[in-house]
Amino acid sequence: MLITIEGIDGTGKSTLVRNLSEMLNDMDPVITREPGSTWIGEQVRRGIAEEIDPIAEALLFTADHAAHIRDVIRPALSAEKVVISDRYSDSRYAYQSVTLDTILPDALGWLEAAHRGWTIVPDRTYLLTIPVDEAMARLSDDRDNTEHFEKADILSRVQKNYLMLAERDPERFVIVDAMLEKEKIGKFVADSIRQFVKR
Ligand code: TYD
Repeated sequence: MLITIEGIDGTGKSTLVRNLSEMLNDMDPVITREPGSTWIGEQVRRGIAEEIDPIAEALLFTADHAAHIRDVIRPALSAEKVVISDRYSDSRYAYQSVTLDTILPDALGWLEAAHRGWTIVPDRTYLLTIPVDEAMARLSDDRDNTEHFEKADILSRVQKNYLMLAERDPERFVIVDAMLEKEKIGKFVADSIRQFVKR
């Protein structure tokens, strides 16, 4: 069972994933993330920091995904584990659709084609949503270095893309209000995952 957690920067994704790992401890889930579950993730972070060419950046994220699938996701699913990934392919579809928008005529189509045939589509995706000005306020509060994606206009387009993806696939997506209290969000998503796994 592959479960992914998505949302723009500043939605509290990482806190949620940390809480889930405690709340679902009895299920012994494999908790993982993109980018960065393999050494390629370090190159991705370097690429983000240096603001490399957007095509190169998109392909680095995708390379990290391929390695993540082979080294972490596929083995865990074969062992019938519940896998929870902090970001996954929808991050590419939502973020790189924006960064590639002026470069390619159909960025989303290009990104999806780059994944087709080898990626593993999640069984369930929790999408955290938040007003963009609130996300920006949280980002400036809790860190001093921000990534180049973390600008209001970009995040607002990324969130629109996420919502479009969710609308296209309502069976897979569950939209979660990131303005709720952290404990509430944790409990809601943990309960929902338990129900989904039982099903
Ligand atoms: P993030 O999960 O926010 O890492 P951290 O919490 O360490 O900052 O990911 C880093 C940035 O990369 C974030 O702004 C989202 C972006 N990103 C993409 O643009 N495309 C992708 O495919 C992924 C996985 C992340």
